[in-house]
Amino acid sequence: MNKQPIQPFDLWRETMAALTQGGLLLCTMGADGKPNPMTIGWMTGGVIWGKPIIEVLVRPSRYSFSRLEQVAEFTVNVMTPEFVDAIQICGSMSGRDTDKFAETGMTPAPAQQVTVPLIEQAAISYECRVVHTNEVIPPHLAPEIVSAFYPQGDFHRVFFGEALAVCAAPDAQAQLAGWLR
Ligand SMILES: Cc1cc2nc3c(=O)[nH]c(=O)nc-3n(C[C@H](O)[C@H](O)[C@H](O)COP(=O)(O)O)c2cc1C
Repeated sequence: MNKQPIQPFDLWRETMAALTQGGLLLCTMGADGKPNPMTIGWMTGGVIWGKPIIEVLVRPSRYSFSRLEQVAEFTVNVMTPEFVDAIQICGSMSGRDTDKFAETGMTPAPAQQVTVPLIEQAAISYECRVVHTNEVIPPHLAPEIVSAFYPQGDFHRVFFGEALAVCAAPDAQAQLAGWLR
């Protein structure tokens, strides 16, 4: 897909629409150079330290967590609704025992500013370098959120990524219209 550079939050409405319906794939890579896509449903974005920052929340039990510990970069890839089967696979299988690129037929493609690849078939890709991490701290969290989301612990780590580059397909808005309600 012939993607062009855009400003970090130019297509944020489309990105948030996809996020709330499970259409985002986080791509990470270990020291072995193998990329791994994982479906994410939690992400925020804004400006911190004068930089465009995207925060993703990853549980320690995820294979992706160990990849982020090895290579402190990630890409966030906004998929079109047609990729619902791939999104389901990336949100239920683990890269520990499955090559999810091979399983889904998606392909990694070189990013411009980070070593972790983006996903060729994505309509939008955000390239991020981790500039800060923070743990979700149970005593600091509202008790009803602890009981609703963390019955087995496995408290997320928040990875703050500086968006170094963002690229989108020329017709990304049209491609993603299916996520907008
Ligand atoms: C819609 C959806 C959203 C998800 N969001 C997240 C998320 O934000 N953070 C997270 O740690 N896991 C999330 N998951 C779970 C992971 O995608 C899932 O456990 C995946 O199989 C982990 O892959 P990995 O072991 O290759 O990293 C989500 C799953 C789905 C289906």
